[in-house]
Amino acid sequence: MNRLFLIALMIVSLSCTSAPENSDPVDLGISDAEIGLSGHTVFEDPAQQSAPPNEVEPGESTVRQRSYPEAPPVISHSTAGFLPITASENLCLDCHDVPAAEDVGATAVPTSHYRDLRSAPEVKRDEIAGARYYCATCHVAQTGAAPLVEMRRP
Ligand code: HEC
Ligand code: HEC
Repeated sequence: MNRLFLIALMIVSLSCTSAPENSDPVDLGISDAEIGLSGHTVFEDPAQQSAPPNEVEPGESTVRQRSYPEAPPVISHSTAGFLPITASENLCLDCHDVPAAEDVGATAVPTSHYRDLRSAPEVKRDEIAGARYYCATCHVAQTGAAPLVEMRRP
């Protein structure tokens, strides 16, 4: 079959394909604004609502229930003045490192934090492992923001 004939055949068959007669809008199910928790679409840029910071001093706060066993506990007290944590400075450890924690009544840093879980998990070191130095990677300060999703307890 020659190529020109094939192309002509394709053009004829394409032109015969007619648009669907029913022009009702298609039901797309969930709308853009309903997909996420923000309640708006990605095309909107709403102003952020500020949340009141936690101003309760360490020693006066109440530790919060953990979300699940082995979850990193959230920070129950204010962190104003303790940040930033740098390579040479870590105020969190002044209260949470093992000998100091008992004196100030803080939960002590667990033994997992003194082990390099990647290369030598069996060795408990005297100092905190490098990967644990920046506490705020895993331990989250709390604010008075309203939760986006209500927490369900069994
Ligand atoms: C001045 C001492 C002090 C400093 C500095 C401090 N904390 Fe605390 N922290 C406490 C005490 C005491 C508690 C126990 C709750 C209370 O009495 O307020 C606590 C509670 C916590 C808890 C909750 C523990 C649990 O069992 O649920 C976390 C997590 C925590 N702190 C992390 C941090 C981090 C991260 C920093 C640094 C940004 C920090 N803390 C700085 C004293 C301190
Ligand atoms: C890589 C994530 C990570 C980093 C970084 C980290 N933690 Fe944790 N932390 C955890 C997890 C996960 C747990 C709960 C499981 C466990 O005990 O190991 C925990 C538990 C704790 C507890 C509760 C101990 C207990 O006996 O209940 C304290 C206090 C704590 N961390 C303090 C700190 C401090 C202070 C720093 C910074 C010097 C820090 N953590 C850095 C993940 C982290």
